[in-house]
Amino acid sequence: MSGVNEIRSTFLDYFAKNGHEIVPSSPLVPRNDPTLMFTNAGMVQFKNVFTGVEKRPYSRAATSQKCVRAGGKHNDLDNVGYTARHHTFFEMLGNFSFGDYFKERAIELAWNLVTKEYGLPVEKLMVTVYHEDDEAHSLWKRIAGLPDSKIVRIPTSDNFWAMGDTGPCGPCSEIFYDHGDKIPGGPPGSPDEDGDRFIEIWNLVFMQYEQVAPGERLLLPKPSIDTGMGLERISAVLQGTHDNYETDLMRALIRAVAEATGVEPGRASHKVIADHLRASAFLVADGVLPSNEGRGYVLRRIMRRAMRHAELLGAREPLMYRLVPALVREMGHAYPELVRAEPLITETLKLEETRFRKTLERGLAILDEETRNLGAGQSLKGEVAFTLYDTYGFPLDLTQDALRSRDIGVDVEGFNAAMERQREMARAAWAGSGEAATEAVWYSVKEKVGASEFLGYDTETAEGVVTALIRDGQPVDALEAGQDGVVLLNQTPFYAESGGQVGDTGRMHSADVSVVVKDTQKKLGDVFAHSVTVQSGTLRVGEALELEVDHDRRGAIRANHSATHLLHEALRQVLGDHVAQKGSLVTPDRLRFDFSHPKPISEEELDQVEAIVNRVVRENDPVVTRLMGVDEAIESGARALFGEKYGDEVRVVSMGGPRHPGSNAPAFSVELCGGTHVRRTGDIGVVSIVSEGAVAAGVRRLEAMSAEGARRHLVDDSKRLKGITGLIKAPAAEATDRLAALLDERRKLERELAEARKALAMGGGKAGDAAVKEVNGVKLMARAVAGVEMRDLKGLADEGKKQVGSGVVALVATAEDGKAGVVVAVTPDLTGRFNAVDLVRIASEKLGGKGGGGRPDMAQAGGPDGSKSGEALAAIEAAIGAA
Ligand code: ALA
Repeated sequence: MSGVNEIRSTFLDYFAKNGHEIVPSSPLVPRNDPTLMFTNAGMVQFKNVFTGVEKRPYSRAATSQKCVRAGGKHNDLDNVGYTARHHTFFEMLGNFSFGDYFKERAIELAWNLVTKEYGLPVEKLMVTVYHEDDEAHSLWKRIAGLPDSKIVRIPTSDNFWAMGDTGPCGPCSEIFYDHGDKIPGGPPGSPDEDGDRFIEIWNLVFMQYEQVAPGERLLLPKPSIDTGMGLERISAVLQGTHDNYETDLMRALIRAVAEATGVEPGRASHKVIADHLRASAFLVADGVLPSNEGRGYVLRRIMRRAMRHAELLGAREPLMYRLVPALVREMGHAYPELVRAEPLITETLKLEETRFRKTLERGLAILDEETRNLGAGQSLKGEVAFTLYDTYGFPLDLTQDALRSRDIGVDVEGFNAAMERQREMARAAWAGSGEAATEAVWYSVKEKVGASEFLGYDTETAEGVVTALIRDGQPVDALEAGQDGVVLLNQTPFYAESGGQVGDTGRMHSADVSVVVKDTQKKLGDVFAHSVTVQSGTLRVGEALELEVDHDRRGAIRANHSATHLLHEALRQVLGDHVAQKGSLVTPDRLRFDFSHPKPISEEELDQVEAIVNRVVRENDPVVTRLMGVDEAIESGARALFGEKYGDEVRVVSMGGPRHPGSNAPAFSVELCGGTHVRRTGDIGVVSIVSEGAVAAGVRRLEAMSAEGARRHLVDDSKRLKGITGLIKAPAAEATDRLAALLDERRKLERELAEARKALAMGGGKAGDAAVKEVNGVKLMARAVAGVEMRDLKGLADEGKKQVGSGVVALVATAEDGKAGVVVAVTPDLTGRFNAVDLVRIASEKLGGKGGGGRPDMAQAGGPDGSKSGEALAAIEAAIGAA
């Protein structure tokens, strides 16, 4: 008897042999369908291939697709554990033809696999067809040789398969297996068809239409095939049981549960735990983490439901995380993502279990107390269920599940009313706060449409449904071409500005609408507001859009954000433990990092920091993100911002190996961070620090670049250097010395030039100069000088005093702009007769100036009119003559 793993590979090998491409399972979070919570059938990833929108390089494919049916339209959660065939997680085997073969070949392939490869006895099989599908009926008759009695026509939607309200669809034909008359139940189409005797094992859908709107169906470009066979069911049949939980794979998981709890298999709780373990682990591996919104909340409900069942089996310590190795052993080969994510799965389960355990027992005690006097058919008060939800973290379905065995219900209306009352109180409290006026619109919109689910850690493209549109602060139904506004979506890959990382930009479009996203901001914590301009078409609420983050820009942002983390740690290693983040800005062009440090950072230190960062970049270790409780994260050495408010759970981003000396941190850098990061440090490329300076007392600021930005920066610098070396005609290695020598030489020449000019101005230092004359018995040196800087005039006047020995020196210099400066010096023996200040004022007046100042032996003034320098000197001479 084959095991589940062989049954899966037999299927895939068979279709490979028959010309099918074996395509890996797509993730549980559908990338291409915003209306779908989880991938719930094999055809989901091919939806657009059927309709012709997407082309693939093959026209036949086969998959083993991971599926989750919990939350959303297909919700099997409540039944799991109590039936033989319900799962939250299951695998769907399927073969697909995209316009290649149709009904006939599909039936041949299926019949051959079931009867020959799997070897099921023909007499145990029967099929159904859609009541109008005569073609399928006769094909079954011819190919399988089945009598009419074993080809049942079904007139209901059971045999017309549709993906949802819209999407590809068509009549279908199902193969059933008869477990024999020991098991109650009738054949399909009979009144007791719901029994366990006749089990549908394979659904062949003859895809022919696309439902585009209710009542509106188009023909697909070409008839196609989509089939689905539950691996768990076919395995049960092939292993001679009618209970999926009796297959080898599920038994191995149930055995692990039994070993971990010491309770022998046979209780519903074993099944619940085994099933929920699979769903939880695969969801975490595909990027879903427990939260209070959307997919994360469904995951949390599944996890907590399993935890209560672990409690029922007597577990008083976290249990689920200890079962992960058994799951990886069973399924890791077929799904390598499980192996890759094993540490994350283990940690996430352990965290959720540890936190929930704290309230689980107390909540269960309350539940016992409150239901002690209730009997079968009665209901728990809605308000109690709400307290359990609100205070003890019991999802409603957990409470319902806990009361199920006693046939006690829950007053769901009362639960909802209590929830609404609490919302109103929150609203009232909020309306009183200062933000009310400007943010009111967000509050009411959030109440209506809920939080946006962020997909951007894992993908840059996705589809999303418009949940609200806002224009000029008011909700609107549509945005027209040319209009600016804000778009809210149920889910989005656009990162909203936070933690220093700027918001994403990009595009949104559908067949008729094209929108540019200029920025993304976060409102009220978890509403993502996309600022847009509609370029063409009319954008309406309810419309599904393809969302595309600007890939290059986001790549540059990611590299700069990861580089910031590495810089932070390198600074701490080089400068000391006092280095703490004070602020940061991450843009596509550069990063800015402010941190506490009391003094400038030397070139050498900067060099060391840069060297460390780039070494870690080159080591190219994976960047790992985990979700943890805040306390646990900080205990584990993660750096957090002091005074920052964090939620209960935080993302912890680690990068680089645990190799720096004296540290027992699990990685080079471990930080609490909600930003987006590179996959491996090597993706950062190179980091270059471009500036260092002070922003406030004790706070320094570094600016740096990474990846392509850093490369451009370095190339530009090197071009500039080339320009310099070309001009000074020296190789780069000698450029600094050569430039220093040139500057020295220039300073020397300037000094020499100034000396020469002075000498020239003073008549070359010759005695008996014609400029010196006797006036009123006093020697007067009066000169208009050119080419002399104003600041040199006083020095020249001192020079003049030396030349005359006893007398008065008057110098007027005219600058290039025509203004004049004048200096008068009087030798000490004459200051009793002449005051330099008085004389300089007389000259200044002639030059059109006013005032002047100094001491009796040396004074200075100026004036706008340098052409009057002769008259100024004459006026001084006259004044001396008149004294
Ligand atoms: N898509 C079909 C199903 O889910 C095969 O049953």
